[in-house]
Amino acid sequence: MKHFLDIHSTDQADLQAMLDNAAAMKAARAGRPKGAADDEQPLAGRMVALIFEKPSTRTRVSFDVGVRQMGGQTMVLSGKDMQLGHGETIADTARVLSRYVDLIMLRTFDESVLYEMAEYASVPVINGLTDRTHPCQIMADMQTWREHRGDVTGKKVVWSGDGNNVCASMLHAAGQFGFNMTFTGPRQLDPEAEWIEYARSKGSTIEIERDPFKAVEGADLVVTDTWVSMHDSQSTKERRHNLLRYYQVNADLMKHAKEDALFMHCLPAHRGEEVTSEVMDGPQSVIFDEAENRLHAQKAVMRWCLEV
Ligand code: CP
Ligand code: NVA
Repeated sequence: MKHFLDIHSTDQADLQAMLDNAAAMKAARAGRPKGAADDEQPLAGRMVALIFEKPSTRTRVSFDVGVRQMGGQTMVLSGKDMQLGHGETIADTARVLSRYVDLIMLRTFDESVLYEMAEYASVPVINGLTDRTHPCQIMADMQTWREHRGDVTGKKVVWSGDGNNVCASMLHAAGQFGFNMTFTGPRQLDPEAEWIEYARSKGSTIEIERDPFKAVEGADLVVTDTWVSMHDSQSTKERRHNLLRYYQVNADLMKHAKEDALFMHCLPAHRGEEVTSEVMDGPQSVIFDEAENRLHAQKAVMRWCLEV
């Protein structure tokens, strides 16, 4: 069973092949209306369940459109409307869904829910974000980097802000794709030590630098994300803002990175908080390419899962 649960647990050559496939599929449908079918219809006859226990714009729409372009059908389900949200076990839900659908995409809170779904499903399961990781986002980011700058090997990526779920998947990608990463943020919001150790064990240089201006020196790519994630309690908002204010990505900070450094953000962004509009809408920003590439990268992920 080919589940796509995390970047670090997926074969490195397979990740590269998915990116190649994503680029080829994107090129093949250039200029077509969004709803037009791809020439190839690898998901013809396939039914895909998209389950959301948290809000989503990009993940929801990009998976839905991607399946349809490849000839498949989708059903979008809200976790709270399912029996899953009313006491049915994850294992039983996985067994039942596997009788109806060919592929499950799940966005949930605790990653144990995702892993349990994968354990008991007899169809592939894709991680559409958990409190701990967001691999589909980083596949899109890797595709975006390749489009703009080519090979990411040996490049310096700086993550400024909260060492959250998206940062975790970026650390996994550092290990798998061979780039280096510097985290700059407050000690209280450091990325998990396990993921830093993972990336280091694969040969990446992973540094922690509390001064964001020092951190971005020599950066090829600067990345940030919201200061309050969906799994964070709103009661922590003020504390988080106070801790993170110093790590805002603004034009001044970008000036300290390489002149041709790119800026990425998974979105949704809070303009004026973790990043200024000047950077988001500036020439170094590739945020909407990242958003678009969710579509193409995930189409490749689904094909890999289904071996079609
Ligand atoms: N980046 C991302 O996953 O966005 P959504 O929460 O809108 O799906
Ligand atoms: N870190 C954010 C990412 C949203 C796509 C969150 O988990 O809310």
